Amino acid sequence: MRRAVCPGSFDPVTNGHLDIISRASFLFDEVVVAVGVNKSKNRLFSADERMDMLTEACREFHNVKVDGFSGLLTSYCQERDVQAIVKGLRAVSDFDYELQMAQMNSSLADIETVFVPTSPEYSFLASSLVKEVATFGGDVSGLVPEFVRERLAHRIDENRRLSGE
Ligand code: PNS
Repeated sequence: MRRAVCPGSFDPVTNGHLDIISRASFLFDEVVVAVGVNKSKNRLFSADERMDMLTEACREFHNVKVDGFSGLLTSYCQERDVQAIVKGLRAVSDFDYELQMAQMNSSLADIETVFVPTSPEYSFLASSLVKEVATFGGDVSGLVPEFVRERLAHRIDENRRLSGE
């Protein structure tokens, strides 16, 4: 059984993430989408919310499941007999940092990192930009699943009301 993880923050999941997950699901027998639940980071969505959205978005992939992890990714992989980490590369600018992480991870454990080039239509896509565009009223349909777009709009409204804007 060839098992891989697609790790990330997924705050929130985008169509670019789903492109990489679907291609990982084609390459491996089983794929775990591993959501980093590091509490010190300031997120728009809680870990549970991010995992719920991913579970809904990955429903169509029969060999993909969603899980949370904290601590080292390599420890998570070792505990679950995962052989590979799948990462999307959007542009050359991603490469330096991703190579550094891949080499660090392979020095920590016997785990390969497999880089998958992002499809060109998603090469500019990042959760952070989606959040910024949505916050300023821009149209993010086509960049995230429709139900994610709705939850994003709702959360932005909620935060606005809470901050008294
Ligand atoms: O979506 P992101 O924010 O780029 O995801 C980053 C993530 C969660 C994949 C990365 O920060 C990670 O692997 N964190 C786990 C901690 C760890 O193993 N650090 C050593 C990496 S070399």
